Amino acid sequence: MKTYIVTGGAGFIGGNFVHYMLKTHPNDKVVVLDSLTYAGNMETLASVADNPNFLFVKGDITDRDSVNALFQREKPDVVVNFAAESHVDRSIDNPGVFLHTNIIGTGVLMDACRKYGIERFHQVGTDEVYGDLPLDRPDLLFTEETPLHTSSPYSASKASADLLVLAYYRTYKLPVTISRCSNNYGPYHFPEKLIPLMIANALNDKPLPVYGKGENVRDWLYVLDHCKAIDKILQGGRVGEVYNIGGHNEMRNIDIVKLILKELNKPETLITYVTDRAGHDLRYAIDPTKIGDELGWQPETKFADGIKLTIDWYLNNREWWENIISGEYQSYYEKMYGGR
Ligand code: NAD
Ligand code: TYD
Repeated sequence: MKTYIVTGGAGFIGGNFVHYMLKTHPNDKVVVLDSLTYAGNMETLASVADNPNFLFVKGDITDRDSVNALFQREKPDVVVNFAAESHVDRSIDNPGVFLHTNIIGTGVLMDACRKYGIERFHQVGTDEVYGDLPLDRPDLLFTEETPLHTSSPYSASKASADLLVLAYYRTYKLPVTISRCSNNYGPYHFPEKLIPLMIANALNDKPLPVYGKGENVRDWLYVLDHCKAIDKILQGGRVGEVYNIGGHNEMRNIDIVKLILKELNKPETLITYVTDRAGHDLRYAIDPTKIGDELGWQPETKFADGIKLTIDWYLNNREWWENIISGEYQSYYEKMYGGR
């Protein structure tokens, strides 16, 4: 039996990972460490709250004393670090908290790993650390060798964290791995991000705010496939290595928005083009050859199926996202989109 500390487990991907791990590793213990920022949601974990192999601890990854106390108490074998500030637009508005959580927090966790001993520290990274690719060069993809070249305070903070993780491997021989995944979608996705925001707005007959011309391209992966990839890396990945994870599924934002409207039977007149994001990355595209060759991972969920599953989830779980958008989210929305 292993004990996993999953930081950020009340967020989108971390929450999905907790559900996945408790289902597929029923003898292991999952301890979530999450400070419950605006993005953390206990409702995401409600269905596992009574599982005897699950424990939730409210705490901040930047708080050294409480992180150390948790490690001393739980003696984790593996730490998977999902905890982060994750939204590019918020990082443009207020970079400071991104530097604190994403960089300092990662350092605090790794110091605890060194102090108490660990089998593996896994850092959940992002493809955004590679910057962007041109729209007219479909032959170019991000590999693990692509130089880091960040655009936003968010991606710069994630790249800094990756460098720190690799430094702890080289200097202290901490057994680390890093994954860099493309854009995820699926259940429990906070409705500030493109896909859940467009679903929620369409369902409420509100305008769908598309940045610029909607021609930016992202490489979308169903969240469960990401969880499976991380599990593969934990079980068989080589320490000190970076693994890119992607869906082979590049799509323009505008095409995603139109698809969502079609699935929901809503008119395209809801689409509203708004001022572009500052420094907006044009295109992300991952080459996942390494994780495929070494660990046998492949994306399994086709976008056409995954987006239907996702839309159905938002239709069947209205309370989950309506609770979010009825609260503090409204002032966020007004700040980000009002008069844009
Ligand atoms: P999210 O914003 O939905 O969730 C983040 C979680 O971390 C929340 O539960 C929040 O409460 C928690 N958290 C934030 N600061 C914390 C702190 N200081 N201490 C403890 N907990 C804290 O994010 P997500 O979309 O689930 O992303 C998870 C990770 O995956 C992030 O590291 C992100 O960079 C990475 N990632 C995300 C995507 C994507 O498409 N969403 C793609 C690739 C990588
Ligand atoms: P997002 O979900 O914020 O992910 P990221 O910026 O990390 O890739 O945005 C995905 C794409 O959708 C990105 O090109 C920005 C665009 N976008 C919009 O056009 N309108 C919106 O309201 C949002 C949130 C994003």
